Amino acid sequence: MGSLLDRLRCVQDVEVEGKPVVVRVDYNVPLVDGRVGDDARIRASLPTLENILDRGGKPILLTHLGRPEGKVVPELRLDPVAQRLQELLGRPVRKLDTCIGDEVVRAIEGWEDGSVILLENVRFFPEETANDAAFARQLAALGDLFVNDAFATLHRAHASTLGIADYLPSYAGLLVQKEIEALSRLTDNPEHPYVAIIGGKKARSKLGTLRDLVDKVDAILIGGGVAFTFLRAQGHSVGKSIVDDSLFEEIELISAKASEKGVPIVLPRDAVVAKELSDSAQVSTVAIDDIPEDEMGLDIGPKTIALFREKIAGAKMIMWAGPMGAFEFSPFSEGTREIGQALAASDAFTVVGGGETGEAVKKLGVAEGISRISTGGGACLALLRGKALPALEALRD
Ligand code: 3PG
Repeated sequence: MGSLLDRLRCVQDVEVEGKPVVVRVDYNVPLVDGRVGDDARIRASLPTLENILDRGGKPILLTHLGRPEGKVVPELRLDPVAQRLQELLGRPVRKLDTCIGDEVVRAIEGWEDGSVILLENVRFFPEETANDAAFARQLAALGDLFVNDAFATLHRAHASTLGIADYLPSYAGLLVQKEIEALSRLTDNPEHPYVAIIGGKKARSKLGTLRDLVDKVDAILIGGGVAFTFLRAQGHSVGKSIVDDSLFEEIELISAKASEKGVPIVLPRDAVVAKELSDSAQVSTVAIDDIPEDEMGLDIGPKTIALFREKIAGAKMIMWAGPMGAFEFSPFSEGTREIGQALAASDAFTVVGGGETGEAVKKLGVAEGISRISTGGGACLALLRGKALPALEALRD
């Protein structure tokens, strides 16, 4: 496989003066009480917007928010996003209530110098996720160029990420370039030992990643809910911990592949357990084989943290996707905090992928010192697995 950066057409290399530029951003941000919660994805888009504006281009922004399934869902309108973008950008943001049609054409014709236009949630149209060609052509008709800066959506083959590139000269935005540059250090020529840390609630969503990573890394540390399905598959009793028994066969295959390749899959030795998931839960720490039948494991314990810290300290490259426990609740946040601290303190090149893990390290105050917190979840993992992303391939010569 060549470098992830090979032959990528870049926004800074194209003339934009006086041109309407359709920019796909990823403003799929959490909304809390009608306001933007975490604005990291909006902030991350600013360099590209400023680059285009400073060179006299006219940015017309497209994004999705949530999964409205092709219908107008009032709570998923982009007005709060427009407001936050305007505050952060310090320039006028004109938000429209649709993506295509006369209203949009008129707004572009009346474009105000130095401003940006934000179109409505593109997933209100069923044609978006269907990658409908006619819809993609209508979006393309709004501009002279297409810039994709929606790193977190690069794994989606949709009209506003892939189809549109058939009809306009297409370029990677600065965020996409920055993310790709960081991830290419892990994919193109990784230094070893390269350690993967996998967590999160659901084993199912991580198995494909685990299977592919066995070919790339030197050790895999597993925490979070994912660990309990692995432990149960190996015959441990895990009480009421989250387990998906339909995955045991696949886990056996992954474990066999890992042992054939000499890649240790390191599972928790102890766990923080409780009967309920709440901030006031009565908790205890037990060895992994001593989880009471009526309790569930909700975080990794101190012995596991020490073991994981040891592996982290010896690594040259580390990727981490998925919290080590139910970090949203204070009794179960220690494992995630400690692993975050260990990454921040290590000399390795460290990448945190996955919206939830990024949120966790920021919330727990351990983000500083991590080399790259990706704005993408699924897109980041797909790249680290070595998958080609169609929406990214569309930006290459
Ligand atoms: C994300 O949050 O990972 C991206 O915005 C993609 O969203 P999706 O999983 O709904 O396509």
